[in-house]
Amino acid sequence: MIAGLEPTVALEEPFIRVRGLDKSFGGRTVFAGFDLDLPRGKLTTIFGPNGCGKSTLINMLSGLLRFDAGDVEIGGRDVRSARIGYVFQNYRESLFPWMRARENVEYPLRVRGVPRAKRRERIDELLASFEITLDLSRHTYELSGGQQQLVAILRALVADPEVLFLDEPFSALDYEMTLYVRDKLQTVFLETGLTTVLVSHDLEEAVYLADRILLLSKPPTRVVELIAYDTLRPRTTEIMADARFVATKQHALDLFRAEMQR
Ligand SMILES: Nc1ncnc2c1ncn2[C@@H]1O[C@H](COP(=O)(O)OP(=O)(O)O)[C@@H](O)[C@H]1O
Ligand SMILES: [Mg+2]
Repeated sequence: MIAGLEPTVALEEPFIRVRGLDKSFGGRTVFAGFDLDLPRGKLTTIFGPNGCGKSTLINMLSGLLRFDAGDVEIGGRDVRSARIGYVFQNYRESLFPWMRARENVEYPLRVRGVPRAKRRERIDELLASFEITLDLSRHTYELSGGQQQLVAILRALVADPEVLFLDEPFSALDYEMTLYVRDKLQTVFLETGLTTVLVSHDLEEAVYLADRILLLSKPPTRVVELIAYDTLRPRTTEIMADARFVATKQHALDLFRAEMQR
């Protein structure tokens, strides 16, 4: 590589470090000897062909799914001892319908034995810092889809995770709600600087939200490229017409097309 032309990505100290990861389902290999480094305090989006293993990957990175071989470290420690927040694709299946919204958000604190007054304090602090107005006394099924996904995001944040993982968190929302929840997520990221990893099946969204776009191949899955997109935040939809946005998206699309034709 020519001196001075190394991508910035290679210079960052990894926070999430994956080495030699293997994962098969019923004899079908999805990951074999997979390596990955992701930086601290950045928002990385994961994009790739349908079925390439995006969900499988973040499930392994968050300690929800066992892998066959390899190592996953977060902040230099085994993933099993890391504090993880996880937001599922489908809020309907992930929230507890018999609980009120507040009880859902509190749940991770309650299982840790945090007293009621402290739980209240923490939730009020979260709502205020992200400027979220929500009637938490309602049952989750009384809330709109976007509000339910916000409850799921708050629940993932309440115990102060080291990494926040989200698997296609907007895919069950209509467009208006998607824009709203995306903006809230950006606020969360700006306020906390939390290392965030978000799977998206929408390339425009993947670039819009990202500091880094992790482009994956078809299985057996490898990293096609970890693309840097270092535009200032908060971003608004106007940047989608910006030359750097367009060029980054086009670059990712070219790589994706080449990968599909392979
Ligand atoms: N629990 C499972 N049992 C069997 N096969 C699975 C399971 N989970 C994922 N797979 C397979 O692994 C591959 C990657 O799946 P997934 O991670 O869901 O892809 P993506 O999220 O990128 O669409 C797919 O071929 C899928 O069918
Ligand atoms: Mg998936």
